[in-house]
Amino acid sequence: MSEAINVLGISGSLRRGSYNTMLLRNIQAMLPPGMTLEIATLNDLPVYNGDDEDATGIPPSVLDLVGRIRVAHGVVIATPEYNFSIPGGLKNATDWVSRVKQQPFKHKRVGVVGASGSPIGTARSQYHLRQNLQALEAYVMPRPEVFISIAETRFGKDGTLTDEPARKVVETWLKHFNEWVRQG
Ligand code: FNR
Repeated sequence: MSEAINVLGISGSLRRGSYNTMLLRNIQAMLPPGMTLEIATLNDLPVYNGDDEDATGIPPSVLDLVGRIRVAHGVVIATPEYNFSIPGGLKNATDWVSRVKQQPFKHKRVGVVGASGSPIGTARSQYHLRQNLQALEAYVMPRPEVFISIAETRFGKDGTLTDEPARKVVETWLKHFNEWVRQG
């Protein structure tokens, strides 16, 4: 029996019908024995403003996210791609989190995945996110990678990842991610 590990999934999309949140839910349904995954959204985070930080400190929604990252053995971030990069909401979240003393991404085992409408399925934004996480000193799993391209053709109406090749990619990724997190 594997030791129990808990993973935090962060969706980089604020949208109710988000393919990236769907991707996390599918990962949640495919977990290996001993791994649990809860999903965090970034909808409650205010836009970072240094004046507000000086006046009132780190907001409760950020502290909540920080606490959830801190206690997780690993984090998986599912990012959309906006204009060849990560969405502002996700960048805002990593900026806020980086302002906390002993910020929780330091040496955290992280996986990056993503889904978008383009034929290269968030490849560009994932590489921007990797650069961002490098600043936060996270240990980001180098490979394999998950680029769910033309996302509207890969999911069923109920949000299930129905595309078999895409499911295989996610399954393989999850096997490696499980090992990656357990090495931490
Ligand atoms: C997009 N989209 C997009 N897709 C892509 O593959 N490359 C891109 O550069 C962009 N740019 C972009 C900019 C903006 C402002 C929006 C709103 C959208 C499409 C986007 O990836 C698609 O809507 C995804 O479905 C968004 O992810 P969620 O919300 O479904 O998780």
